[in-house]
Amino acid sequence: MKQYKKEYELFEKAIEVVREIGRNLVLAEACEIRQKGQTDFVTEMDVAIQTQICGKLKEIAPDYELIAEEKRNQDLNLKGKLWILDPIDGTTNFIHHFCHSGISLAMVDKGETVGGIVYLPFTDEMFTAFRGQGAYCNKERICVSCVKHLKDSLFSVGTNPGCRESADKAFVTMRAFYDVCHDIRRIGAASVELCYVASGRLDGYTEHGLKVWDYAAGALIVQEAGGRVTYQNEQKTEWGTNAGVMATNNSIHEEAMELLNDRCNKK
Ligand code: IPD
Ligand code: CA
Repeated sequence: MKQYKKEYELFEKAIEVVREIGRNLVLAEACEIRQKGQTDFVTEMDVAIQTQICGKLKEIAPDYELIAEEKRNQDLNLKGKLWILDPIDGTTNFIHHFCHSGISLAMVDKGETVGGIVYLPFTDEMFTAFRGQGAYCNKERICVSCVKHLKDSLFSVGTNPGCRESADKAFVTMRAFYDVCHDIRRIGAASVELCYVASGRLDGYTEHGLKVWDYAAGALIVQEAGGRVTYQNEQKTEWGTNAGVMATNNSIHEEAMELLNDRCNKK
């Protein structure tokens, strides 16, 4: 911890930045929507929140690089200190007034995530984790569920809506988990689903083809809450790594990975 004292102070400031700016999402009125792809959207609010958070982060940490979903992430030094921001994770939910979206910010040092912040403005829940210090929701310690078997679990399976070519794989995965678990869920915001695993509301979550800003903060929160995260089909890009993610409460991890490998990854 001594090693990261300065980073921890910065992390605490960043939490307040995310809360202050993120809460504006709740007050947002009709705003302009632009299509980045057939089923991939960006709204005025994504851009406004990103601009404001990036501006504040530059003030409090001028030496940090910044990766963010709604900007061009080129010529960055990914080997040092950086932030990874998704100004709204769950943009499609936001557009449809389905109130499950998160503002996700990860603090990274030499390729390792040291801090994770996911703020859910619609429920005013602030999920945080600093490496080695546990995971919290609104300052209360959280931990993963104690479900021991996949057959007793509630499992979330993402559909990766921006990549329709892999729809078969997503729906085979859904069916596979549905056949075994109590039931499946799909919230529509990877960062929120990861926080739900961390707090025991879900026992596991998996999705193919996420972007680094979807999972960087949430993955640390899961790990610090006692859960386990496995990345699959990692693809390095100039701004980070795309990956499939399997996040569980740890107890059901091997069973879940086995199911994924046997029934889904062959698709
Ligand atoms: C998306 C959400 C969604 C997931 C997509 C992501 P965005 O992020 O996390 O749940 O299925 O793959 O791209 O576009 O709302 O920031
Ligand atoms: Ca987003």
